Amino acid sequence: MTVYHTQWLILSKTGIFGLLCAKQRSGSTFNAEEKNDTCYFLSPFSHVSGVELDKSSVLQHNAAMSHSQYVHSTGDICFVQSYAKINITLDVLGRRADGYHELATIMQTVDLYDTLCLSKTTDNRVHIACTQPELNTEDNLAVRAAEAVRRTLSLTQGVLIELHKRIPTAAGLGGGSSNAAAVLLALQHWWQLQISPTELLTLAASLGSDVPFFLQGGLALCEGRGERITQLPQHWPTSLRWLLLLKPAIGVSTASVFRALSPDDYTDGSFSQAARTALHTRGELLPAYLHNALERGVLAHYPEVALAREAMLQAGAPLVRLSGSGPTLFAPFNTLAHATHVQQQLHAQGYEVYLSRAIHPAGETVCLF
Ligand code: C5P
Repeated sequence: MTVYHTQWLILSKTGIFGLLCAKQRSGSTFNAEEKNDTCYFLSPFSHVSGVELDKSSVLQHNAAMSHSQYVHSTGDICFVQSYAKINITLDVLGRRADGYHELATIMQTVDLYDTLCLSKTTDNRVHIACTQPELNTEDNLAVRAAEAVRRTLSLTQGVLIELHKRIPTAAGLGGGSSNAAAVLLALQHWWQLQISPTELLTLAASLGSDVPFFLQGGLALCEGRGERITQLPQHWPTSLRWLLLLKPAIGVSTASVFRALSPDDYTDGSFSQAARTALHTRGELLPAYLHNALERGVLAHYPEVALAREAMLQAGAPLVRLSGSGPTLFAPFNTLAHATHVQQQLHAQGYEVYLSRAIHPAGETVCLF
């Protein structure tokens, strides 16, 4: 199949391709569910004329897309993937004078991701068109990231940000922060920004505490407000090979979770330190290390989260932890069979559950056309 001038594809289980061309994009074309057929909403592979699409490699939901093919760069559009994270540990050391909390947290990106497509506009403004219409606001962190770049570097060019959302929002998975970092990285490549790594980091930190982590992703210890990043060796214990992420049907405000902390929740950072040592020595991450200081308060204030946690344990999850400020819970598994068995039971109870794994984006997430 030959693809010309096509920015988004709809691929259905019955093998029917839908091509959303540039002209159609800005309309109400973000509907990938048609005629009860399972549809997959995709960005295209290489735009080399005459290229056969490799269907087998795109059929899996959220499968990482290969960007290893030759990419024809005209500078008109730019695709970028934006991964979610989980917090392996989260120590809160105390409250700071600026109202934020001093943290030591180990974060890992996972292969649940949003896709962004950036394209030129002629009106010198930043626009957003998201698969979730309620996110089409100027408060969207992706928009704020583009505005921050334009303001900081006195640029006037406009950009349309199309955002295919898969990461649940207000979920403790860092989706908004990841989108902001993805826009920064995309614009850096696409607009050839004259900006140092330190300036980019400062810009990222001004958008949110988690944004600096997503500039590189992978496995890292994040300290301070979360903006002081130390990359950790990419050793991933076998007991965490597969991850189930369960998103209870509520949203949680990060600010209110931090406000509800009591001094008893504060620690000296030793959980993150122990996990860091284990990762450095290629040791096992003992369940006792996987501590999240925000979990007690979230379980106490949100019964839906406590019930979901119980359901995961009942379904056979060996261990369940909160990610960030929640409400998403994660459970690690060392076999795919065990993970999918538990996932099926939780799906049958109506829970939103994602099968995922740790991922190291490795600089291939930005794709210019
Ligand atoms: O930095 P960000 O905007 O993502 O943080 C959201 C809220 O979470 C902050 O307004 C603050 O209330 C809380 N927070 C905190 N300490 C941190 C990070 C976030 O208290 N280190």
